[in-house]
Amino acid sequence: MSTVLVTGGAGYIGSHTCVELLGAGYDVVVIDNFANSSPKALEAVEALSGRKVTFLEGDVSDRPTLERLFSRHDFGAVIHFAAFKAVAESMSEPLRYYANNVGSVLNLLEVMQQTGCCNLVFSSSCTVYGNAQVVPIDETAPLEAVNPYGRSKLVSEEIMRDLCAADPRFKVVLLRYFNPVGAHPSGELGEDPRGIPDNLMPYLMQVAVGRRDKLSVFGGDYPTRDGTAIRDYIHVVDLALGHVAALGVLDELEPGCQPFNLGTGTGSTVLELVQAAQRVIGRPIPLEIVGRRDGDSVAVWADPSRANAVLRWRATRNLHDMCRDHWNWQSKHPYGFVDGPPRT
Ligand code: WQD
Repeated sequence: MSTVLVTGGAGYIGSHTCVELLGAGYDVVVIDNFANSSPKALEAVEALSGRKVTFLEGDVSDRPTLERLFSRHDFGAVIHFAAFKAVAESMSEPLRYYANNVGSVLNLLEVMQQTGCCNLVFSSSCTVYGNAQVVPIDETAPLEAVNPYGRSKLVSEEIMRDLCAADPRFKVVLLRYFNPVGAHPSGELGEDPRGIPDNLMPYLMQVAVGRRDKLSVFGGDYPTRDGTAIRDYIHVVDLALGHVAALGVLDELEPGCQPFNLGTGTGSTVLELVQAAQRVIGRPIPLEIVGRRDGDSVAVWADPSRANAVLRWRATRNLHDMCRDHWNWQSKHPYGFVDGPPRT
């Protein structure tokens, strides 16, 4: 399988995955509508890989666009990233999240089935475990959605399970990401969230680069080693390599739908991440410990042993690597892919 369709390939994880796919010798076709990404990310992908990307600006939920794309290429597999991913936004705009996230999955799967392209790697999330009671979390943990974003991922997974049960040609790999952070070591590709970042690392780095005054640490009274919540932060390049690994073993996998946790297996507290970032940045990050954020879990980290064994993949980058590479990107590009402060 030499040509891979990457939906949302201009996004944070998608663009890093394109770099690794090109480096592994795959030809890459990207469809992206730039809802939460920039064409400059694809320019960076081509510069970093030294190879061209075939690109179509479009929406995965638009049927004629997708049919036209599949008529032009013989895709060996699809990696589906394109989705909205902000938890808070999903709670205020659930219908937009379901229409986009689930609608695009339905459209994509129908066109894949029609054209006989039956290999899919799906960008899922640890959010499908909801408020897991047991950590580390393995793939047999109960699934529950605690917000519309998570439910859109869970429903998408269920749709894929049903399709695989109905059509034995399909092989679907569900990659459940834990907390993606970091950036390409070149500093030329990284996370570029629109508006005020929901997530810890981008917000922290925007404080460090002077775009924000201080970091609010949500909760200092959790029953953890320093009172702040624990997460499994994983370097985006490790995550990208997990997708290449999944493609590499597709031929060995039985038909059907298989989940894999992509995490390091190590939990870090908020303050441990802040301290690792401060060591890299070389100065303190202004912060204030405030009340807990609604919906947050105390501790979430992966048992990645199934991915280690079956995908023959393992995260190798540590918290220092994540902070070093994220800071390298943020300090070189304080406003991400745009040149200066957003014009208000
Ligand atoms: C991490 C920790 C916050 C911001 C989310 C999605 C999940 C996945 C990863 C897509 C928590 C604390 C945060 C801040 C803080 N995304 N925090 N101050 O919530 O674990 O997971 O992103 O798949 O689906 O739910 O990530 O980075 O928002 O929070 O103290 O300004 O940092 O309370 O403990 P989260 P996060």
